[in-house]
Amino acid sequence: MRDQARARPVDMIAPAPGGEGRRAAHVAIIMDGNGRWATRRGLPRLRGHQAGAETVRRIVECCPDLGVRHLTLFAFSTENWQRPREEVTGLMALFRRYLRRDTAELDRNGVRVRFLGERGRLGPALRGMMDAVERQTAGNATLDLVIAINYGGRDELARAARRLAERVARGEIAPEEVDEAALAAGLDTAGLPDPDLVIRTSGETRISNFLLWQCAYAEYAFVPQLWPDFTPEDFAAVLAEYASRERRFGRVIAGG
Ligand code: IPE
Ligand code: IPE
Ligand code: MG
Repeated sequence: MRDQARARPVDMIAPAPGGEGRRAAHVAIIMDGNGRWATRRGLPRLRGHQAGAETVRRIVECCPDLGVRHLTLFAFSTENWQRPREEVTGLMALFRRYLRRDTAELDRNGVRVRFLGERGRLGPALRGMMDAVERQTAGNATLDLVIAINYGGRDELARAARRLAERVARGEIAPEEVDEAALAAGLDTAGLPDPDLVIRTSGETRISNFLLWQCAYAEYAFVPQLWPDFTPEDFAAVLAEYASRERRFGRVIAGG
C-alpha cells in the first residue's frame, strides 16, 4: 500500500514512453446485441445469449494471436437484474454451463480466469464455480480472461470507498492516505492494468456503467455488428484501427 500510495496517477494510466507500442494489451468488450440478434430471427432472446457464448469462445481463442494479454468481458450488469425473470435465470444458467463446459479447455490453453462484480447476489452454485475456476487457473499466464458478472462501475466504486472508510474508522489508515492509488487498489480490478481499448458491439454509443474509473484514458470503438455476429476478423480490424491512433494522456506529443 505504501509504494502504491506514492505512485503518480500518470504512472498508473499511461504506459512508459516507447513501451508496448500500439498493441492493445488490455481490451474490454461490452458484448451487446444478443437480444436483437435473436428477435430479428424470430427466436427467444435467450437464443441470442447462447449464440453470444459461441462468440465468446471464438474471441477468447484468437486473443493470443492478436497480442491481447487481458480480455475483460461485460457479461451481466448490476442493472440487468431488471430484465424479465426468465431472461435473468436463463443467463445465470448459461454462465454456469459456460464454466462447466469450458474451464478445462481454458486451463489447457493457459487462460487465467477471474471475475469482476459483487458476488453476494449470485447463486451459491455459480459462486462456487467462479471460485473454483479462479483457483484452478490462477497459475496460467497466456491470457487473463476477466468476466464481469453483476458488475456496475458505480457499485464497484462505492464498495471500494466503503472498505477504505472502514479502514479509516478502524484507525488502520489516515484520511490523507485515501488517494488514487489506494482507491484503485480497492477496486475489483486491483492488479490489472487499465484497459487500452473498449469495444462495444451493436451500434450503441454508451458505456452503461462499465469500468468507469479504469477507462479514464481508454480508447473506444463502437462497432455495428451484433455480438453473436462479431468475428475474430472484425476484432482484428478494430485492433488494427486502434494501432493507428495517437494516445496522449494529457501530454504534448513531440512534433505535434
Ligand atoms: C447483451 O445483449 C448481453 C447482456 C446484456 C446480458 P443484450 O441482451 O443487451 O442485447 P440487446 O441490446 O437487447 O440487443
Ligand atoms: C450493457 O448492455 C451490459 C452488458 C453488455 C452486460 P445493456 O444492453 O444492458 O446496456 P443498455 O441497457 O443498452 O445501456
Ligand atoms: Mg443491450
